[in-house]
Amino acid sequence: MALLYIESVEYLEVQQMQETHENEIKILNEIDRLATQYSMDKSKLTEVETKIEKYLVHLKTHFSSEEELMHRYNYPNYEMHKLAHDMFIADLEITLKQWHLHNNIDKVIHFIRKSPEWIILHINTMDAPTSAYITQKMKIKQ
Ligand SMILES: [Fe+2]
Ligand SMILES: [Fe+2]
Repeated sequence: MALLYIESVEYLEVQQMQETHENEIKILNEIDRLATQYSMDKSKLTEVETKIEKYLVHLKTHFSSEEELMHRYNYPNYEMHKLAHDMFIADLEITLKQWHLHNNIDKVIHFIRKSPEWIILHINTMDAPTSAYITQKMKIKQ
């Protein structure tokens, strides 16, 4: 069983957003799978760490590209959507700091395993209306 399925989040017409979500869900599922292996075999630590670093980079690019799109198309709820991104990143970064401070990856794994609830809600209530708005704007521009 995967941590998160692409079918659980709304399909977005803006292809760039949809592809980003598909790739990010793959990374999250890889982290979950590696974390399970790590719980039985501690030599897997580096692999989990590398994947978490990859997730962080991907997440930041994901959020900034959505923000860039919203900005480009003058999305009226830009501030609210960006604030949601910033708060999620801040929460994740606190957890990452604890990881490096105490050299304990378990809290990060716990954070990631809890995150699907936020992700589904965010995509369905923030990204979906953003995508719908941008799609409309793109049609007008054509
Ligand atoms: Fe998104
Ligand atoms: Fe978003």
